[in-house]
Amino acid sequence: MMRRVLERPCTLAMLIGFQFAFMVYFSFGGLRSLTFIFGHSIEPSFDYSRTHDVYSNLSLVNSMVLPTSTAEDILLPRCPERSPYLVGPITVTFSQTPSLKKVQDKNPLVIKGGEYKPPNCEARHRTAVIIPHRNRETHLRHLLYYLHPFLQRQQLHYRIYIIHQAGNSTFNRAKLLNVGVKEALRDEDWDCLFLHDVDLIPENDFNLYVCDPWSPKHASVAMNKFSYNLPYPMYFGGVSALTPDQYMKMNGFPNEYWGWGGEDDDIATRVRLAGMKITRPSVAVGHYKMVKHKGDHGNEENPHRFDLLIRTQRMWKTDGMNSLNYKLLARELEHLYTNVTVDIGVDPRAKKPLRNRGPTPPPIRRYVNKTSSTSVDSQIRNQADKLTNVSEINGVEPSAENKGPVVAPESTTTEKLSLPIASAPPRERVEDKQIRVIRSTEDNNNKAQVKEVQADVARRGRAQRSSKLERQVDSFRAKPQDDVGKSLPQSDLSRAPV
Ligand SMILES: *[C@@H]1O[C@H](CO)[C@@H](O)[C@H](O)[C@H]1NC(C)=O
Ligand SMILES: *[C@@H]1O[C@H](CO)[C@@H](O)[C@H](O)[C@H]1NC(C)=O
Ligand SMILES: *[C@@H]1O[C@H](CO)[C@@H](O)[C@H](O)[C@H]1NC(C)=O
Ligand SMILES: *[C@@H]1O[C@H](CO)[C@@H](O)[C@H](O)[C@H]1NC(C)=O
Ligand SMILES: *[C@@H]1O[C@H](CO)[C@@H](O)[C@H](O)[C@H]1NC(C)=O
Repeated sequence: MMRRVLERPCTLAMLIGFQFAFMVYFSFGGLRSLTFIFGHSIEPSFDYSRTHDVYSNLSLVNSMVLPTSTAEDILLPRCPERSPYLVGPITVTFSQTPSLKKVQDKNPLVIKGGEYKPPNCEARHRTAVIIPHRNRETHLRHLLYYLHPFLQRQQLHYRIYIIHQAGNSTFNRAKLLNVGVKEALRDEDWDCLFLHDVDLIPENDFNLYVCDPWSPKHASVAMNKFSYNLPYPMYFGGVSALTPDQYMKMNGFPNEYWGWGGEDDDIATRVRLAGMKITRPSVAVGHYKMVKHKGDHGNEENPHRFDLLIRTQRMWKTDGMNSLNYKLLARELEHLYTNVTVDIGVDPRAKKPLRNRGPTPPPIRRYVNKTSSTSVDSQIRNQADKLTNVSEINGVEPSAENKGPVVAPESTTTEKLSLPIASAPPRERVEDKQIRVIRSTEDNNNKAQVKEVQADVARRGRAQRSSKLERQVDSFRAKPQDDVGKSLPQSDLSRAPV
């Protein structure tokens, strides 16, 4: 069969045509694209048992400061293609949290707003580092301590932006990044946007914080958390870098991922849908160490993340930079960073935080087993664990007469929707599970699995449609009526964390 195909003259012509096209491509792409390809195939190796202090050579980088009066007039030479001050593997420890004052003292050439330019040459690259943030001050101090000297040794013109989500609503990393990109590009014509998690410290300064002109780059390819390996081929979380053009081409990141998980996979899908490929540094270079932490409040695992992933294909052109809205609350120029504080709204599907319910008796009460002395929280957890049978959920469904008249009908629905969150396993474990699921659906293009996913999509589609039904039911329930709840919680189960 194959032979016959090959023997056909038109196939042969096509093959030759392709070969010719490749040759043309490379000759026009210039030597650079070739060295790029071959450069990648040669794996550099580093000895991570012999690491260097992150501040080594920094005084060299910043020596030879020109006389200030004439500095403006003198045309600085361009910085070398590759900085001569790089040291490779860096010692990263978290035993002591440095104070901001200490970091500031160690980085005297960083100017207000967390910006830096090499003093004795004109930088070849302008990079904005954008870090979504809330309640992670310790992590931030570690990151600033390492990132500033790291970037200076690479001789970049850079600035660090912290995007602070105001309020107590669920954290939304992807939307904060959209905000950060918009705010950063207001200051300067950055040619590279580094989208950086606050808890990841780069461990090798050959991991250059510059963009790839052709493709979005995923930089955190080898994290200690994943024993210095890429967890799955589509992984795009942690640290990534895009040029503003690449960012706009994929309409930025999605605005609708509230809580932990899923948004990075959506972003990887967007890259593909926008006709781009993900590029990566070698595993030997892209080493990152994660600052340890427990799963934090206000950043619970997003139980809807798989619904949304399926949504990406339909929505990426309409949900992103072109639909971004937020309220800029403050823009403070700190010594080591620019603090952009924004109100990005609230998760439309989130429950209200338990403590801020107000005077009306929380609807959660209805789940309390009066004879039991265990706390409300643990009961919910137990119930959620047991919720395997749809009609069992109906069993605990409140009857209409128990319902306080002041409680808005929709709070009942959201309460129920959020039930399974309470039982969400700790962050690490969920992540592992997610990885397994994604791996099995993305990697092997196994037909059976595809079918499974399709069935899942259909089921979820039904679940989404049924939200209209839920609203109807809620309005019913506001009136005294029995039995209405019976038709409800079908959708609850399908929204539970996978
Ligand atoms: C930078 O520091 C490393 C290790 O401390 C040293 O081996 C290297 O020579 C230094 N580079 C320059 C240009 O001085
Ligand atoms: C956020 O939560 C904190 C403590 O839980 C509370 O003091 C603060 O008032 C809340 N802020 C808002 C805007 O609800
Ligand atoms: C950023 O500014 C906000 C508002 O002033 C403040 O609450 C927050 O703590 C600041 N964050 C950092 C990291 O400085
Ligand atoms: C309430 O809790 C008690 C003791 O934990 C248990 O025996 C009883 O079955 C529970 N009742 C319901 C309705 O769950
Ligand atoms: C679900 O619960 C109902 C009522 O409690 C019961 O009749 C039914 O057998 C249960 N189904 C399963 C699969 O456990």
